[in-house]
Order: sequence, then structure tokens, then C-alpha cells
Amino acid sequence: MNESSSNQRPEVVWHDQSVSREDRERQLAQRGCVVWFTGLSGCGKSTIANAVDRKLSELGAVTTLLDGDNIRHHLCAGPDRLTAEHGPEFAERFGLGFGAIDREENIRRIGAVAELFASTGIITLTAFVSPYARDRQRVRQLIESVGRGGDFVEVFVDTPLETCEQRDPKGLYKKARAGEIQNFTGISDPYEAPPSPEIHLQTADKSPEALADEIVNYLKQNGMLIRT
Ligand code: ADX
Repeated sequence: MNESSSNQRPEVVWHDQSVSREDRERQLAQRGCVVWFTGLSGCGKSTIANAVDRKLSELGAVTTLLDGDNIRHHLCAGPDRLTAEHGPEFAERFGLGFGAIDREENIRRIGAVAELFASTGIITLTAFVSPYARDRQRVRQLIESVGRGGDFVEVFVDTPLETCEQRDPKGLYKKARAGEIQNFTGISDPYEAPPSPEIHLQTADKSPEALADEIVNYLKQNGMLIRT
């Protein structure tokens, strides 16, 4: 094992910072938290998360949105995106695909970044398929152990597979059915639905705006928006 891959070094210790989370939250008049959208590709996560982001912003809240496809351009880029600049060995080690371990690392990195935002008092929206219950549970533990109980709001965007497949906005279901894409969630890879999410959105017959309102109301009722 080389130095860079060795275990925690004893000289790496945690330091408390001079401006506390509570100071920042008082300044922003809101509670930092993570609103974690999960669901199949094409279920509406991004659309609803964007609507929530806009509504919160209009209420004067400070928010950010970490969105699946965007994050896979940089923070969680695939090997193909990394090879030219960093070379094949780096791309192989750090580039992420869609196997179970790759998704685990994707969600781990995003969870760590979301925690940093939430600790700064920011209402952090994330929209990732995040199909594995254990990966989501680990993020919940991180957010709640660094922050407080209630800081992780899991939103299950419950759209039937048939509907997602009918929409197929990127043509990926068609490719997955044809065997051109491996490990495709819902087709050739599992999706583990959350058994007890904070918010369960049954999306049939409801507009993204109405669904977004359900989430904004939840955040208001649970004291995330202190100014409203
Ligand atoms: S996650 O499973 O690791 O959380 P993430 O949300 O980052 O996935 O990325 C999912 C997006 O990548 C999908 O919306 C889809 O556009 C695309 N994608 C490409 N290949 C796959 C695949 N095998 N399974 C699921 N999504 C895929």
C-alpha cells in the first residue's frame, strides 16, 4: 500500500472553525439541510428539484442543486472524460461508471459535498438515481451525525417504470432494452425504493409545480425557512 492509499494519518485531525454553522444559519435565516431526491431515470427528479430550487429562491432562501448528469461531467466524471487530461491510469482509478461500486462512490462523493453545503447553512437539493438503500443510508448518517436529526429529507419520486420508459427523454431505455447500455436501472440493474422516505411523491396526474409545492410546504413546516 503506498502512502497516498494508506489509512487515516494520525497528523490529520479535525479542527473546529471560527464561524459556526449556527452563526451562518442565523445570518441566512434558514436551516441548512439536504433534500435528497431519488428515483428512476426519467421519473422527474431534476424537473421537480429545479422547480423547488426556483420557488425557494423566490422566497429569499439560499439554495444549491446538485444534479446527476451535471455532476458526472466533473466531480464524478467517467473514465472517458478523464483520460485526455490525466492519463489512463488515473482515469481507470478515479473515473466512475454505473456498476454498483461506481454508484457507491458517486453517492459517497455527492453526500460529502452535500454535507459541506448543508454545514454552511445552505438548503441543498440533490437529484440522483441513487438506487441502493445502503448508499443513501450512509449519506443520511453523515448528514445527521455532523448536523442534526431531520437535516436529511429523502424524497422518493415514485413514477412507474412504464411511464419513465414511455417518456425516455434521452433514448436510454430503448438502448438498455436493446442491450446497448449495461447495468441500466430498472431494466438490467435494481432500484431499491426507500421504505420510509420523509416525502413520498406519487407523481401520476400531478404537475411538477404541484409536487414542488408539497416539498416547499414540508420545508416550511419543519422550520427550514425561518424568515417565512
Ligand atoms: S446513480 O445511480 O449513480 O445515482 P446518477 O444519478 O449519477 O446515477 O446518473 C444517472 C443518469 O445517468 C441517468 O439519468 C441517465 O441519464 C444516465 N445513465 C447512463 N447510464 C446509466 C445506467 N446504466 N443506469 C442509470 N442511469 C444511467
